[in-house]
Amino acid sequence: MIELIFATNNAHKLDEVQAIVGEQFLLKSLADIDCHDDIPETGVTFHENAKQKTDFLVNKYGLNCFGDDSGLEIDALNGEPGVYSARYSGTRDMQKNISLVLEKLTHESNRNARFKTVISLYLNQQQYFFEGSIEGKIIMELKGTDGFGYDPIFIPNGFSKTFAEMTAEEKNKISHRAIAVSKLAEFLGKL
Ligand code: IMP
Repeated sequence: MIELIFATNNAHKLDEVQAIVGEQFLLKSLADIDCHDDIPETGVTFHENAKQKTDFLVNKYGLNCFGDDSGLEIDALNGEPGVYSARYSGTRDMQKNISLVLEKLTHESNRNARFKTVISLYLNQQQYFFEGSIEGKIIMELKGTDGFGYDPIFIPNGFSKTFAEMTAEEKNKISHRAIAVSKLAEFLGKL
């Protein structure tokens, strides 16, 4: 069995990814290896931030690991909120972050946007990246109560409901994160 550290403290994310990669790999969270550091996320791209996470773990522990970074890119806002998605309004309050996005788009007819995930994998001294994205539109007001983050204002192309109106199962079939994770799983499965 190959052990891999997943640079996350989110047990739910860990279980979800463990289920996808299968039992050939034993995933461990940051807490599992007693890592309680505030890992820097100061990059200006998802790639940089994801790599910062694995670089940190490689430098400190020298272990095989992966880390992800995600966010929402809106064309009319030149790709914002992007890497600043979690704190776009200067706080982690998602109501404020969503309000700021809707306010900036008030008179904007181009509502095209995408969610993106980049995974950085560091395995046996080699660096790999896996990406997932899903294109969609930002609607005028919030719809739905499930999910998290910007889910209530994002409708993926080809669908008529927001991510927040979908069940977790529906969202996880098509999401940016699911796409990136399945690429990682496919790669690991070939080892
Ligand atoms: P993280 O890198 O996965 O922690 O994502 C950073 C931020 O991007 C989150 O705090 C959310 O605001 C936003 N985000 C990422 N993925 C999603 C998603 O699937 N739905 C809604 N918002 C998301």
